[in-house]
Amino acid sequence: MKITPLRQELIPQVIALMELGEPYIRARTYSDYWGYATLFASTCPVALAGDDVAGAVMAFRSQEDPRDVYVQDVMTHPDHRQQGVSKALIAAVRDQAISWGCSRLYLTSEPDNTAAQATWQALGFVNVPGDRDVDGVSVTSDFKGPGKDRAVYQLDLP
Ligand SMILES: CC(C)(COP(=O)(O)OP(=O)(O)OC[C@H]1O[C@@H](n2cnc3c(N)ncnc32)[C@H](O)[C@@H]1OP(=O)(O)O)[C@@H](O)C(=O)NCCC(=O)NCCS
Repeated sequence: MKITPLRQELIPQVIALMELGEPYIRARTYSDYWGYATLFASTCPVALAGDDVAGAVMAFRSQEDPRDVYVQDVMTHPDHRQQGVSKALIAAVRDQAISWGCSRLYLTSEPDNTAAQATWQALGFVNVPGDRDVDGVSVTSDFKGPGKDRAVYQLDLP
């Protein structure tokens, strides 16, 4: 497996990958990925297995608080799950964030996404205390706007 920054020629394959992520991930537009490849490639790594895209992460350093890197989408192709793809992709983002002097990565997941919760915990993320518990996961109500409750996870960087 090779980890490479998102580049324009990979966008159609990344869209095809993200289309497999329902209900937790939805593909964004070509234009969105063009922006990510052009402006944020160093925190948008893609995992290649031969010529196939096995996974991708879209993450961005905050302009409002440059100590933060927000991980927007994490997706591994169903044929490549539980083989360390996300681990390698998040490690690439983490290493980039550390090299910039950032202090944390953070992300959110839907309260019922148990595979994601298990992954974040295995990768060392901590569930940020919210205002209620759902099956042992702390959830922040309205985190992404009215009715958009999310479990928030963060990884503190050295
Ligand atoms: C969640 C997801 C990204 C995990 O990707 P992955 O490439 O399979 O994860 P990895 O193989 O890198 O696993 C990383 C760690 O998480 C653990 N893990 C991954 N999936 C798991 C699962 N379903 N159950 C329990 N643990 C799991 C692994 O065991 C591993 O732990 P280890 O390092 O101690 O061995 C993948 O299931 C996926 O793409 N799901 C659909 C999209 C989605 O929900 N994305 C997240 C949106 S918030």
